[in-house]
Amino acid sequence: MSAHFSGRDIISISDLTKQEIIRVLEVAKLMQKNKKPLLQGKVLATLFFEPSTRTRLSFESSMTKLGGGVLGFTDPNVTSFSKGETLWDAIKMVDGYADVIVMRHPLEGAARLASEAAKVPVINGGDGANQHPTQTLLDLFTIKESQKKITGLKIAMAGDLKYGRTVHSLASALAHFNCGLFFVSPETLRMPNYILEELESKKIKFSVHKEVKDIIDEVDILYATRIQKERFPDHQEYEKVKNAYVINRDILKNVKKNLKIMHPLPRVNEIDPSVDDSGHAYYFEQAHNGIPVRQALLSMVLGMIK
Ligand code: CP
Repeated sequence: MSAHFSGRDIISISDLTKQEIIRVLEVAKLMQKNKKPLLQGKVLATLFFEPSTRTRLSFESSMTKLGGGVLGFTDPNVTSFSKGETLWDAIKMVDGYADVIVMRHPLEGAARLASEAAKVPVINGGDGANQHPTQTLLDLFTIKESQKKITGLKIAMAGDLKYGRTVHSLASALAHFNCGLFFVSPETLRMPNYILEELESKKIKFSVHKEVKDIIDEVDILYATRIQKERFPDHQEYEKVKNAYVINRDILKNVKKNLKIMHPLPRVNEIDPSVDDSGHAYYFEQAHNGIPVRQALLSMVLGMIK
């Protein structure tokens, strides 16, 4: 099973079996203590057509800590895209300069296209509102670190469930672990039907809600998300929902002791800073878990760890 990672693209969380996901989490746990330069001589290309703090920097940090090198761009306007070069041709070039590519792109399906152009592994760093598989792996790792298990937990996702790609990947992945899922959003930002249908077909229990306060006292994880302003076709629609909910100290009065609040970040208004030292906040640890998880993935797709 594990040999399958060598040379493999990571485009959608649905491309990984439950056993493969568990293997990545196991290797990530080992990476927390690893000191060996496993990827010396290897080069990572980070091609970011959209802004990023965590995904790009944690991939670059992961590669550097493992002894490898990094090249790439954060602004496609300073590359030959500005002269009209196609994504296909650009990936064909980078294929000769790097051993693995991480790409973030606003168009859904762009990472899949890049993987068809490249011979080296392509890792999807987020494609439009579609998928963010490495975020999901670090989210699963974080859930396991904070609760000592994943199976059977009650997990709420709140916020922009329509345009937020992290919740799409996470809901699909949690279907492997028989969790009870609670989806909280304004009516216009509900989880897409294709995800709900996938959960139904797998007999996963889920419910749909409008208010965080209705479910927060019964869940183990609250996964909050930002309203994705940049993906709204109509700015007025964004204005209607931009402050749909705020997690603050008041709402945490009767929650379970083990409740952890996660967020892929950046946050805007969804979580009041007073929550940061409540004992329930876990979003900064979550972001830091990007290092061992991405180190694991890089080492596995580059064939250094099975
Ligand atoms: N979680 C996440 O994808 O953050 P960035 O957009 O900063 O990479």
